[in-house]
Amino acid sequence: MKAIYQTQYGKSDVLQFGEQDLPKLKGKELRIRNHAASVNPRDWLIRAGRYQLQFLVPSFPLILGSDFAGEIVALGDDVEGFHVGDKVFGMKNPSEGLATYAEEVLAPAENVAIIPDGISYVDAAGVPLCSLTAWQALVNKAGLKSGMSVLIIGASGGVGCYAVQIARALGAVVTAVCSGKNSAMVTELGASQVVDYNQCDFLKEGNSYDIIFDTIGRHKLDVCKPVMNPGGIYVSTIPTPENLKSMMITKIKSLFSKPCKKTSVVMVKSSGDDLEKIADLIVSGRLRPIIDRVFPMQEASQAHDYSRSLRARGKIVLKIS
Ligand SMILES: NC(=O)c1ccc[n+]([C@@H]2O[C@H](COP(=O)([O-])OP(=O)(O)OC[C@H]3O[C@@H](n4cnc5c(N)ncnc54)[C@H](OP(=O)(O)O)[C@@H]3O)[C@@H](O)[C@H]2O)c1
Repeated sequence: MKAIYQTQYGKSDVLQFGEQDLPKLKGKELRIRNHAASVNPRDWLIRAGRYQLQFLVPSFPLILGSDFAGEIVALGDDVEGFHVGDKVFGMKNPSEGLATYAEEVLAPAENVAIIPDGISYVDAAGVPLCSLTAWQALVNKAGLKSGMSVLIIGASGGVGCYAVQIARALGAVVTAVCSGKNSAMVTELGASQVVDYNQCDFLKEGNSYDIIFDTIGRHKLDVCKPVMNPGGIYVSTIPTPENLKSMMITKIKSLFSKPCKKTSVVMVKSSGDDLEKIADLIVSGRLRPIIDRVFPMQEASQAHDYSRSLRARGKIVLKIS
């Protein structure tokens, strides 16, 4: 199969396009003819050997990529509930071998969902990792309920675009933090207020929040506390030692005292069940894929450089075939 692979860590020019062996199908897996993969910041961190969970990453030749969208071409012996020809999407954890920058992808059936009708492979590939991160942060970690006030930092990025839509769909009142040029986009996605971080500081706006979801990990609980409601939670996508320590301490504290302000860190996991909930939101028109740029697979290094600029509005997608 054709794939983008690397035989050493380094800058984006280590990415090569060429033939790689077809992976071997196991009992609980699906073989998927892959049409699109998205680029996530973790891809260029892994490429450079700088990912926090690098020890889980397969050895060289390494094929990067977490998100995929394509059709099933074969089923493992133990798979139930899927059929050859089904159009599916999903994400792969590093421990499952990544390898979605490729024409064929293997994925555990339990981590895959059917692509809603009318959604293209390119759009579908932009959904899984970022929307699952947003869902798992807001719902599983923060316990988002209708009527809560939610601040989303990095609202125009891959995770942020889905976080705004999910929070709004579940009935929260959303304030988005992004640069002024993205204000209209995040408003259209469901934010009722936008803070342009180049002009104002959300810490000085006089509002307070039940949930602060920091998708780009620029803040921390101690800084955000003054604008958090009692029992509020700060959730970060970045597992810094400080965030992890604060998560442990505030978890223990909350067992013994009145509701206290807490830290949490989301570490996204692939899940077909969670992805089905995202697919339901797409079907009901409450969430849509946000695609910034599409690159042909052969231009993966340019796509990585663009992602590294941290200026993407929504998702960057590689078109595989
Ligand atoms: N722990 C996990 O499981 C997990 C999962 C997914 C992602 N992550 C991490 O989360 C981070 C975000 O991921 P992503 O895919 O959303 O990245 P992304 O799409 O590359 O984020 C780009 C966005 O960041 C925004 N941004 C940059 N500087 C900002 C600032 N100072 N304040 C507010 N917004 C700012 C930009 O908005 P403007 O142009 O408007 O400034 C742009 O829209 C990455 O570090 C990624 O590795 C972790």
